[in-house]
Amino acid sequence: METVVSGIRSTGNLHLGNYFGAVKNFLKMQYENNCYFFIADYHSLTTHPKPADLHANIKQVLAEYLACGIDPDVATVFIQSDVPEVTELYLLLNMNAYVGELERTTSFKEKIRKQPDNINAGLLTYPVLMAADIIIHKANKVPVGQDQAQHLEMTRRFARRFNTMYGVEYFPEPDAYNFGKKLIKIPGLDGTGKMGKSEGNGVFLADTPAEIRKKVMRAVTDTGPQTPGEKPSEPVHNLFTIMNVVSDPSTVKYFKEQHASCQIRYGDMKKQLAEDIIRIIGPVGERIKEIVADNKYLARVVSEGAEKARASASLTIREVKEIIGYRPF
Ligand code: TRP
Repeated sequence: METVVSGIRSTGNLHLGNYFGAVKNFLKMQYENNCYFFIADYHSLTTHPKPADLHANIKQVLAEYLACGIDPDVATVFIQSDVPEVTELYLLLNMNAYVGELERTTSFKEKIRKQPDNINAGLLTYPVLMAADIIIHKANKVPVGQDQAQHLEMTRRFARRFNTMYGVEYFPEPDAYNFGKKLIKIPGLDGTGKMGKSEGNGVFLADTPAEIRKKVMRAVTDTGPQTPGEKPSEPVHNLFTIMNVVSDPSTVKYFKEQHASCQIRYGDMKKQLAEDIIRIIGPVGERIKEIVADNKYLARVVSEGAEKARASASLTIREVKEIIGYRPF
């Protein structure tokens, strides 16, 4: 049994790509490990969300994960800002994080380009806060994608540095959680690239069936195959990739054959695809609405989650302060 920590961005709603690429793996993982799933709402402050939006964003993302089947009675589900111990460890780790290495972080350099008017110290120390999130529970596994690989490497480094500095074997160095088989990448509906929240090419779990139909019917295709047996173009191939995940194999086979014989009508294919997406994620969308409306349930989830997370985090803080040399009077 491993201890797993995963932080979830509190901006942006979940789309099909997140669902099949990540969240479905979390569902299985939660039964096999000691999992901490939290909403990284302190991290989100680096981009200065409006006070009027912050809570609703957090609530929506939390509801979406719960609707997918993250079980708060199995995993520890909490909000980062409900666990002040994390910020205490962040402060302590900052003393051994060097400005040079933080400035060299890829994500920081990217932010400098993207938001030159808001290069705040929170952005610079983002990897330190993330390391605190992870090692405060002495996690050994972190299920992150390639875009977070450098942050995880820095987490390992900060953990190792603490151990070396104080001559202890205290923090484990966490590894990436390996999902075994290849991760599923869901392409977007715009013909190129993967589904993303900012690309405007996604189907969101919270979309209504009508919205899903509209988006899928507008998906990019091509003018149709010209010669029998022709390979599908990228946009059409992408639709087949999504179909492979949501539709019955016989449906995929039917439309592949239609394509190979140049008889395919993309309108029919998209209609079918939309219905199959709705069949799979429609119930999740319904559940999201129910959970968002159930404040009592959400309040219970976050308060029980915070209690469990703080039990683990406060033990670490006590031991870390002891190691650093703080003594009670
Ligand atoms: N940086 C992560 C992301 O952008 C979110 C995150 C914050 C995280 N703290 C974490 C992920 C701890 C894993 C573990 O997706």
